[in-house]
Amino acid sequence: MQILPSPEESITCSGPHYDRAKEAKEFDETKAGVKGLIDSGMAKVPRLFIHPPQNLPDLSSDTEGSATDLKVPIIDMMGCQDSRLRRDVVDDLRRASETWGFFQIINHGIPVDVMDGVLEAVKQFHEQPEGVKGEWYSRDDARKFRYYSNGDLFWSKAATWKDTLLFDFSFGEPDREAVPLLFREPVFEYEKHVEKLKRSLSELLSEALGLDSGYLGDIECMDSKRIVSHYYPTCPEPELTLGTINHSDATYLTLLLQNHHGGLQVRHQDQWVDVSPVPGAILANIGDLMQLVSNDKFKSVEHRVLARKAGPRVSVACFLVPGETQMSKPYGPIKELLDEDNPPMYRETTFTEYFGFYLSSGNGLNGESVLPHFRVSEPK
Ligand code: OGA
Ligand code: NI
Repeated sequence: MQILPSPEESITCSGPHYDRAKEAKEFDETKAGVKGLIDSGMAKVPRLFIHPPQNLPDLSSDTEGSATDLKVPIIDMMGCQDSRLRRDVVDDLRRASETWGFFQIINHGIPVDVMDGVLEAVKQFHEQPEGVKGEWYSRDDARKFRYYSNGDLFWSKAATWKDTLLFDFSFGEPDREAVPLLFREPVFEYEKHVEKLKRSLSELLSEALGLDSGYLGDIECMDSKRIVSHYYPTCPEPELTLGTINHSDATYLTLLLQNHHGGLQVRHQDQWVDVSPVPGAILANIGDLMQLVSNDKFKSVEHRVLARKAGPRVSVACFLVPGETQMSKPYGPIKELLDEDNPPMYRETTFTEYFGFYLSSGNGLNGESVLPHFRVSEPK
């Protein structure tokens, strides 16, 4: 019989006979990630990965995703160069950003073979022999490319069921030598297309806020990218762990490419809604800082990824944040959106301050939004 830790024990991460720090260190030293556990024939989720019940989905409940007909809105960018059609695209985008905070984009201009190329390369990386990929395993922030499992392994309350790759484009394209050969062509190519899509979305979102199309571009809030790819291996006991704990993103905007294995859910009308993969689509979500500058007009919404028996799920997130030279630039609610009836809801903050708080409070990584910490007026 499997004995579950009491919620108290799993929160403090130490039971009488359990040394969490030791288990985390041993796992980290394998440099083989969660995929390595599965490859070694592990049929049970190790305790390190077991979440307290309040974080876990109740897979038998109706409000946990599968039972609802709600669907994340689809935005068709075809025709957004035509002024009449563009108005419809902007309206759709405004509605989606105000209500769901998430939307699936089709006809976005990124070729399907470029998207498939990135997903395939990620899969190949993780499916190489352990010794080969282990060479890239690192927690060193200075690296432009690294492979690791659970960035917060040593301080989270419970680990999540995934392995991660990070490509740091915050200073522009990294040196080719810093990135495994397998990724040079597909990821660099993908990034160029994502840049174009970002520029179009920046204009459309500016218009959706009722501002000049160049507004969000001019304030330089999305000049930098970090591409973070998650590989979620199949999980033998999905009811005990999570792929990604519920959170909202500490970004302005996130663009997400996902393969055909679902698992992602977003919070909408007090329910968890499955984000069913739409072939060829790019998923986008409003980040906390966009909610802040839009003065609550656009919503940064909680989302999570379930661990599942089917898989592997592969996702490639592109986090859009201010560039390196604007890390200390203060951003607050956009003045053009404020008047007597619309007072500022947040104080100004910098990306460095916001992200630092997100990480250090642990809140961002433990399912609680940190945005309320920056609030100065109560929501209407
Ligand atoms: C994230 C995230 C979702 C996914 O990395 O912030 O929400 O599908 N990822 O991996
Ligand atoms: Ni996220």
